[in-house]
Amino acid sequence: MLGSGQGSNFVAIAEAIAAGKIPAEVALVLSDVESSGILTQARQRGIPASYLPPGKYRTKLEEDAERSLVAQLQAAEVDLVLLAGFMRVLKGEFLKAFEGRIVNIHPSLLPCFPGLHAWKQALDYGVKVTGCTVHFVDAGIDSGAIIGQQTVPVLDRDTPESLHQRIHQAEHELYPRCVAALARGEISVQGRLVLWNAPAPKYGNPFPPRQP
Ligand code: GRF
Repeated sequence: MLGSGQGSNFVAIAEAIAAGKIPAEVALVLSDVESSGILTQARQRGIPASYLPPGKYRTKLEEDAERSLVAQLQAAEVDLVLLAGFMRVLKGEFLKAFEGRIVNIHPSLLPCFPGLHAWKQALDYGVKVTGCTVHFVDAGIDSGAIIGQQTVPVLDRDTPESLHQRIHQAEHELYPRCVAALARGEISVQGRLVLWNAPAPKYGNPFPPRQP
């Protein structure tokens, strides 16, 4: 798992694994921010966690850093790479090494409000409903096929902070649910369409089959 921030999505996923809701383990946590909460949270749980020095750029990893990232994930034999607030754009080599196996969470209902501060973009635009999206990562910005979404109402009294906080809460439900379905092999992809093939009885299926 990769992140640059406080690591609350990591915690939600680690807790769902501990509760037996996701048949997987977190093999490795990496962060480009040495003091990030995600590294602290992982170490507190005994999960291998390392700082990945990003190099000289601000918004992407330097080539050596990206190579090291790929090598560390391959050595840990990960099946899936989960991003949660990882603040650097990942480039070709990394995408090639883990094609179709990189997943991200974004704090809006994509394709609305990609990029930074999506909750503030939603508030400034005046939408009445926003939310969060779990999606596969491709070469674009927040543009990969959508795995799952959860809505969050925008309230008249919302500030950027209050809206972001409620979106965060929704993320903590949505991300573990999507990862559980991926780990159980219930997700298949046809172009941009992500299909939830089988219901997930123990942990609830967010898209139950419609009754005729
Ligand atoms: C989340 O809001 C996620 O949508 C965004 O970055 C934030 C990460 O939060 N991409 P956390 O570090 O998991 O608490």
